[in-house]
Amino acid sequence: MKILVLHGPNLNLLGEREPKIYGTMSLARLNALLRAHAEKRGAKTRIFQDNCEGTLIDLLHKHRRWAQGVVFNPGAYAHYSYALRDAVAAIGIPTIEVHLTDVKKREPFRRRSVIAPACVAAICGEGVSSYLKAIDRLVV
Ligand code: DQA
Repeated sequence: MKILVLHGPNLNLLGEREPKIYGTMSLARLNALLRAHAEKRGAKTRIFQDNCEGTLIDLLHKHRRWAQGVVFNPGAYAHYSYALRDAVAAIGIPTIEVHLTDVKKREPFRRRSVIAPACVAAICGEGVSSYLKAIDRLVV
């Protein structure tokens, strides 16, 4: 299984960004955990973070022939990026939307994901485990 993991905007600041909400783990540490977790399950990963909508679209396009599954935290783009939703639909690879926080229980603008309809599942509100569970779901 080959899994593309994409982190969207502001997730480069994990660990220092609003730690009461997003926790204290850095993105580098999270990525190391994800690599190790996937490897234990016999899966390969390619992991990227970017703040730009267009670059995230380019990454989905670029790795579409390699990836068999995508774990995607679109950050705030989840709530309004129809372009990212279309990119997920266009590549036709099972994609799981993940969020560290429970977006359904936060501010009203976070409660809707426009990307979710293009995804096979969404896992939210479990911190780092949201990502780990998404990998497990894809590997099964
Ligand atoms: C987030 C939730 C989004 O609403 C927010 O904009 C983020 C992080 C999460 O992982 O909980 O940047 O995607």
